Formats: sequence, structure tokens, C-alpha cells
Amino acid sequence: MQIPSNNNAYWGCLLLLSSLCCFTAAATLQCPTDVIYLESVAPPTLITLKVGNSYLLGPGLFVLANTGEVAADEVLCVTGQDRSGVPAGVTRLVSPLSPLGDNSTQLHFTQYGGLLQVGNLQLQGRAGSSSSGGGGVLIKRSKDGSDDGQAATFVAKLVTFKSNSPRAVANDDDTTASLTFANCAFIDNVYDTWGCDENRGWFCYFLGPPGAAGVTTASNVTFKGSTVFRRNSWGALYAASPVTVTFEGSLLVADNTKQPAYRNAMAFDDLTSTDGAGLFASGAAHLLFLGAAVFRNNTGAGGCGLALRGAKATFQSSRTVQFLANRGSYGPAINSYNASIAFNGPVLVTGNTALWGAGGALYLEFSDVTFNAAATVYNNTLNGCTVDFDDGCAGGAMWIQGSHVTHNELATYQSNVARASSFGGAVAIFPYAFGSKQANSSFTANKMVAFIGNEGPIGGAIYTESDVTFAAGAQFISNSATAQDGSGGVVHVCGNSTLAFGGPVTFRNNSASRGGAVTITPGAWWPNATTTRMVFSGSSSSSSCWMGNTATTAAGGAALRIEAYGSALFGTTAPHNFGSNLAGSGNSAVEQDITVLDKGWFTCNSRSFAGSFSIEGNVCAARCAGKAVCKCPFGQVFVPVQCSCQRIAAASPSPKPSTSPKPSPSPKPCGL
Ligand SMILES: *[C@@H]1O[C@H](CO)[C@@H](O)[C@H](O)[C@H]1NC(C)=O
Ligand SMILES: *[C@@H]1O[C@H](CO)[C@@H](O)[C@H](O)[C@H]1NC(C)=O
Ligand SMILES: *[C@@H]1O[C@H](CO)[C@@H](O)[C@H](O)[C@H]1NC(C)=O
Ligand SMILES: *[C@@H]1O[C@H](CO)[C@@H](O)[C@H](O)[C@H]1NC(C)=O
Ligand SMILES: *[C@@H]1O[C@H](CO)[C@@H](O)[C@H](O)[C@H]1NC(C)=O
Ligand SMILES: *[C@@H]1O[C@H](CO)[C@@H](O)[C@H](O)[C@H]1NC(C)=O
Ligand SMILES: *[C@@H]1O[C@H](CO)[C@@H](O)[C@H](O)[C@H]1NC(C)=O
Ligand SMILES: *[C@@H]1O[C@H](CO)[C@@H](O)[C@H](O)[C@H]1NC(C)=O
Ligand SMILES: *[C@@H]1O[C@H](CO)[C@@H](O)[C@H](O)[C@H]1NC(C)=O
Repeated sequence: MQIPSNNNAYWGCLLLLSSLCCFTAAATLQCPTDVIYLESVAPPTLITLKVGNSYLLGPGLFVLANTGEVAADEVLCVTGQDRSGVPAGVTRLVSPLSPLGDNSTQLHFTQYGGLLQVGNLQLQGRAGSSSSGGGGVLIKRSKDGSDDGQAATFVAKLVTFKSNSPRAVANDDDTTASLTFANCAFIDNVYDTWGCDENRGWFCYFLGPPGAAGVTTASNVTFKGSTVFRRNSWGALYAASPVTVTFEGSLLVADNTKQPAYRNAMAFDDLTSTDGAGLFASGAAHLLFLGAAVFRNNTGAGGCGLALRGAKATFQSSRTVQFLANRGSYGPAINSYNASIAFNGPVLVTGNTALWGAGGALYLEFSDVTFNAAATVYNNTLNGCTVDFDDGCAGGAMWIQGSHVTHNELATYQSNVARASSFGGAVAIFPYAFGSKQANSSFTANKMVAFIGNEGPIGGAIYTESDVTFAAGAQFISNSATAQDGSGGVVHVCGNSTLAFGGPVTFRNNSASRGGAVTITPGAWWPNATTTRMVFSGSSSSSSCWMGNTATTAAGGAALRIEAYGSALFGTTAPHNFGSNLAGSGNSAVEQDITVLDKGWFTCNSRSFAGSFSIEGNVCAARCAGKAVCKCPFGQVFVPVQCSCQRIAAASPSPKPSTSPKPSPSPKPCGL
């Protein structure tokens, strides 16, 4: 950007009358109807804006001679050339240069009360130029600490806040101020106030007030129309008090960054957190999204799209909320601590990458996340344990600790990957138990959920030490535990945890070294506990189908592995069918569906079984229960499509020209 010098500045024409009216309360303040028109004749044009006026600026480049100041009962309205729509910026208003010539930053406006209204403008600061920055709007309760008692009213319509530094719009302490942005964009703003120790490059600290390069607020804010935050450095939005920030229309949070020189620079508290390159909310703030929201390609530490600390986020729109290709460490899409998030419309979480840390897309601690509409969690990656001081290191898509995730609608977790020595290709779930602080976790699906093609070293789809419930059926297809001795191709259940199922469940083509689909083991940290379990509800819909799963270790348990003190409780009302599941490698692989190690067991009703099982058909059927080897009854064969033993005749498709559909025994289809 070229910064105009004072020499070629030119005073625009002053037109019209300026008529002032006196108002006593901010609520009744309005822009004067008589408008002063300023034209940029030989740009850039140096102008001074005086309170009490409405200005209309022509197209072109204007430079403020000094910061506009609006106090209680004062009004200042500045409108640029309206090209009836986006992009705003036909009229550019550049922040003043310091009269001292010392490169110090100068604001466009300060506001201590009254009404400041800007429209159809690009409010341009000096970030990225030879100066050290400047530009923006600062709102405070008062100039000198003696509060006038009047809240500020700030209105921006069709304004692009560009290249302001350190903060484009900041309300530091006016808690009852009214901030309204309609069709505004925040682009290339820079809040760059951290420094790093010269000798110890990793030791970084923060200067300046808390905030974000885009909007910092201590009061409610309403964003109307479409809102865009792009390429802001060190945060798009920051709220740290019990305010409500409402996005009434569409929202794009893209390409924002928050990254100190050293990736693990000290983040001493929430005020200086390196999390939240996009939206950051703490102190009981509430972010309310009424329109479509997209969080894309934000980079930094955790929660590059959205970071919550003791805050709340509600996504209300029926349009899909998207978290795409965000990159960072602990939950690049969302990092949430002591917070609650409700998705009342559909969600797509895809292409997010944790380069290190935990949770390829979401990192949750002491938080509740509820999906009340369909969720798709696809192609997220955790690169794994790459540094030795990782705090955790699990969950290709989600890390859930001391937290509760609930799906009340269909969900798909597909092609998520956890690498290196981490756990849980898609999801990793732990209770929180450090010191005196204890909090359980849960993952609960009340509608059908599918886990497809996820992979992780241990627990190809899910690694859990807490309760996981699939109340309405689930499909687990082609997941794999990738470590050389990887366990639980789909789920590795350990610790004090119950993996519970209601509804039909399919395990197909999953693989691991041991426990091709499921491993149940109390684990080293939970020895001799008898609370590590897999439980199928007794309902008639709670069936299961296990086919095509493999364990590369001989006798490793091709479908199910139950280690000492672990257990599986099969309901007896519905069938639990096992087809071909092979354990061992290459040509020596043999049919071996279930392996139960010493002190482990599974039950069908009240009967308990231990040992190795190779079953064709229903493991709990009278003819199979307890038999190490069980084939289909004479005259029947195992039919993969139906995942059950069928009469030989029924195996071949029998055309039925029946006019009346019979409620004949139609076996449940197996798989997708
Ligand atoms: C202002 O900034 C420029 C570029 O960084 C620098 O060369 C100049 O010395 C600075 N001036 C002062 C007074 O700091
Ligand atoms: C902020 O918004 C919330 C929710 O609409 C409202 O309850 C609260 O009173 C507002 N606060 C102020 C200071 O206006
Ligand atoms: C992602 O954001 C960074 C930082 O703003 C930017 O340099 C990069 O070009 C963006 N990548 C894409 C694919 O948009
Ligand atoms: C959790 O957040 C709430 C605000 O939502 C706050 O009052 C509470 O102190 C926080 N608790 C912890 C343990 O951080
Ligand atoms: C998966 O995500 C990565 C990282 O964002 C991206 O480069 C890649 O194209 C995505 N692959 C698919 C198949 O979506
Ligand atoms: C988890 O903790 C919550 C709150 O302490 C409690 O209400 C709930 O019953 C616990 N759940 C389990 C499964 O222990
Ligand atoms: C089985 O799963 C593996 C991944 O473990 C996948 O590569 C393969 O395509 C799947 N095969 C079928 C038939 O689905
Ligand atoms: C194990 O979990 C159950 C509920 O899931 C809980 O009631 C029990 O207290 C836990 N036991 C221990 C020792 O944490
Ligand atoms: C677990 O049980 C075994 C015997 O079965 C015993 O040797 C061991 O000490 C027990 N471990 C704990 C932690 O109780």
C-alpha cells in the first residue's frame, strides 16, 4: 500500500450546511439530515471530520488528518460512495499519521458515548506498510476514567475494515455499548503484540490489551447481513465477558492466523491464549449463529476456527455449518474448554489437520457438544505424537475428555486418520482424573451412526476409556488399527467403560493385529476391573453382524477379542451372527471369530463362555452357544448378504411375483 504524504494532500470541497441538533440520550441520537459532501479531487485527500456532522465522501482515497473523537451526546456520521452493494471500498478512508512523525499508531476513531455511524467505506489502516500500523475504532466507557454514563452506539454498514493494526474495532470496557455491523468485512487486520525472548526463542510473552485483530468486544454485538473475517493475523473475534455475539446472516471465517514465532509459545492465560485464530469466546460469552457459517483454512494452535473457554456457542441455522481445512494442534476446527456447543442444523467437519497435539478437528475438555441434526466428520487427521511434551495425543477427528458428545441425528465419521503412536482413528474418549478433579466422558448416538474407513494405531475408529453408546444401531465398515500390534480395528475399549448397543450393528471388513473389530481389555491402568464391557440391549432390534474382519495375529480374535476381566454381553432376543472372520496371516489365516483370554468371558443370557470361537451363524443360538466351532444347521449355508444361515434354496434369489407382500421372515440385510 502506498501511504500518502501530507504534501500532496488536498482539501475536498465542502458543501451544504451542517446543522446540529442536540440530543440528550444515546438512544435518540441520529445522524444529521443535512450532509456535507467531500470529494476527492486529487487523491489522496486529507480531511478532518468534526463531530455533529454527517459527511458524504465521494469515491477515491481520503486520509484523516487526525483521529475522530466522539463523546457523550455527540454524533458523527461518515458515508462513502454507494455502489449499491459489495465490495465496499470505492471510498477509502485511511487512518491518520502521527503528527510527531514517530510511526506511532493512530486510530480512525475513538468513541466514549454518542453515535458513530460509518457506511459504504473501506476503513483502511497502515498495517503492512513502513509504519508500525494504525487504524481502527476504539470504544471505551470514558476518555479519562470519569464515566459520562452514556453507552456508545456504533453502527457500520457495508464497511470493509482493512489492514488496521492492532485492532480493527475494539470495545474494551463499555459493557452496555451497542455495536452493529451490517454486511461488513474484516480483512488483513494485524494484531501483532507478542514478543519472544532473544536468547530463548521459545519464551514468548504478550504485550498490549487482550483482543483480536478483527473485533474485540465487552458488549453485545450484532452482525447483520453477510459477515466476513479473512486473513486477520492474531484472531478474528474476541469476547471475554458475558456478552452475546449474534451473527444474523451468513458468516465466513477464513485464512485467519494466530501463530507466534515458536509453535508452543507460552500462553499464560485466556487473555493471551494462542488458541482461537478465528473466533475466541470466554467469560460466559455466547456466540449465536443464525445463518450459514463457514470456518476455513484458519491456522494456529488450537481452535483455529472456534475456541471456547467457559462460553457457549449455538448454531441455529438449517444450513450446513462447515469447518474446512483448518490447521493447528489441539482441535484445529474447535477447541472447547468448560463450554457447550449445540448444532441445531447440519454440520460438515472435513479436511482439518492437527500437525501435532490431539484431536484432528475437535478438542473437548469439560464440554458438552450436541448434534441435533446430521453430522459428517470426514478426512480429518491427527499427525500424532511428534513432540515429547504433548498433552494427550489421540483422536484423528475428536479428542473427548471430561466431556459429553451426543448425536441426536444421523452421523458419519469417515476416512479420519490418527498417525504415529496415537490412538483412535476418528475419536478418542477419556475421563478426566488428575488431582482432585474428576469428570467422566461419554459419546452417545441416539440415531444410526456410521464409521467408515477410519484408521489409527490402536482403535481404528474409536479408542475409549469411557462410556460409548450406540442406541439406534451403527455400521462399522473398513476401519483399521494400523500399529504393528494394533488392537481394536473399530473400537479398543479399555478402562472403566461400557460399549453399549441398541439397534442393529454391523462390523464388516475391519482389521487389526488383535481384535479385528473390537478389543475389550481393562488395560494396564485398570487391572482386574470387571467394568470393561460390551453390552447389547436385550431388545429384539439389538442384533449384530460380524463379517470379513481380520486379525493378523494368529488366535488374535478376528472379530472380537476379550482380554482378562473384560466381558461381552450378547442379548439373546436378536441374532448375533458371525460370518467369515479370519485370524493369522496369509495362507495360515483361519476362521476364528472370537477369542476370549483367561479370566475374560462373554454371555448369552445367563450362560457364560470363555475360549476361542469359530462360528458360522448366531453365536447365541442354542446350537452354537458355547461351542468353539459351530456351522450352520444341516441344509443351510451362511449367506453374507443376509448375514445369517439360510436354507439353501433361499440362498439363490427366488423371484416372487407375489401381489400381497408377506411378512415372511426377511432376514436383516447386512452392511450398507
Ligand atoms: C519509522 O519506520 C520506518 C520503517 O520501519 C523506519 O525506517 C523509521 O526509522 C521509523 N521512524 C521512527 C521515527 O521510528
Ligand atoms: C445482550 O444480549 C442478551 C441476549 O439477547 C440480553 O439478554 C442482554 O440483556 C444483552 N445485554 C445488554 C447489556 O444489552
Ligand atoms: C490459507 O491461509 C493462509 C494464511 O492466511 C494463506 O497464506 C493461504 O494462502 C491460504 N490457503 C488457501 C488454500 O486458501
Ligand atoms: C466454566 O465457565 C463458567 C462460565 O460459563 C464459569 O462461571 C466457571 O467458573 C467456569 N469453570 C471453570 C472450572 O473454569
Ligand atoms: C483431505 O484433507 C486434506 C487436508 O485438508 C486435503 O489436502 C485433501 O485434499 C483432502 N482429501 C479429500 C479426499 O477430501
Ligand atoms: C457422569 O457425571 C455426571 C455428572 O457428574 C453424572 O450425572 C453421570 O451420571 C455420570 N455418568 C456416568 C456414566 O458415570
Ligand atoms: C477393506 O478395508 C480396507 C481398509 O482396511 C480397504 O482398503 C478395502 O478396500 C476394504 N475392502 C472392501 C471390500 O471394502
Ligand atoms: C466406573 O464407571 C461407573 C459408571 O460408568 C461409575 O459409576 C463408577 O464410579 C466408576 N468406577 C470408578 C472406580 O471410577
Ligand atoms: C490382579 O489380580 C492378580 C491375580 O489374578 C493379582 O496378582 C494382582 O495383584 C491383581 N492386581 C491388582 C492391582 O489388584
